[in-house]
Amino acid sequence: GEYKNIISEKKGKVGLITLNRPKALNALSSALFHEVNDALFKFDADEGVGAIVITGSEKAFAAGADIKEMKDNVAIECYKNNFLGHWTDITKVKKPIIAAVNGFALGGGCELAMMCDIIYAGEKAVFGQPEIKLGTIPGAGGTQRLVKAVGKSKAMEICLTGSVNLNAEEAANLGLVSKVLPADQLVDEAIKTAEKIATMSQPMVQMVKEAINQSFELSLSSGLLYERRMFQNTFGTHDQREGMGAFVEKRKPTFQNK
Ligand code: HXC
Repeated sequence: GEYKNIISEKKGKVGLITLNRPKALNALSSALFHEVNDALFKFDADEGVGAIVITGSEKAFAAGADIKEMKDNVAIECYKNNFLGHWTDITKVKKPIIAAVNGFALGGGCELAMMCDIIYAGEKAVFGQPEIKLGTIPGAGGTQRLVKAVGKSKAMEICLTGSVNLNAEEAANLGLVSKVLPADQLVDEAIKTAEKIATMSQPMVQMVKEAINQSFELSLSSGLLYERRMFQNTFGTHDQREGMGAFVEKRKPTFQNK
């Protein structure tokens, strides 16, 4: 196919990306990550796709950045090449991304999941930030997004020890993941949620994602203003007329994404 480290396919209106480096437990090599970005931006540009699911294997979502690839890195070269800067490109994707995590989501694997919009976990999922044990620190959100997801004390414990991991149930209780599922149902359930999102008005879906993400950047009053202005603007759309009209007429709405 088009890619060497991932499988990218369409399931109806859902884009499905499967990380596929089984021999390395889906370690996130630079090449793999470039392929993920490429597949994501193709789905983002495809009007037939409403939401995206990223998954790995039953053993590993991803066991982190590729240690073998980076072990001899030199700081000045990392700076010049902005090492792993391209990982952040995922956050520019406008369509919702659901991470379906089975098995290990460690280091960069946990960070990749946290860059997605919703995380579903299989019963055997394990989330952790073991970088400290490698003599380094998290580099793609482990010290930032994890705090916001599970709180300071837990995030400190996870990142400082490198060996306090969260199982699926703990991750759900803390709010890092929104649902725990049997491993063999995980991807199907993630696709079902993605399908549901894909039936909504796509501009509204993207506005929700944008507004929620602004809550991490803005003060409450700025965030509320941002939300209210976007909300007010929805009254200029076909889909608002259709959605509210359909409710009043007791029928199903047909959104046209305009
Ligand atoms: C490269 C990896 C890897 C990784 C596993 N492998 N994780 N290769 N980078 N992160 C490879 C192993 O070397 C091995 O290859 C094969 O995958 C199978 O792994 P095993 O260790 O034999 O499997 P197992 O005993 O089941 O243990 C699973 C594991 C362990 C607990 C997940 O593999 C592990 O601890 N991996 C490293 C986890 C980690 O430290 N991640 C953080 C990376 S740093 P061979 O060829 O030997 O068979 C990071 C920084 C992010 O992510 C910064 C982002 C900007």
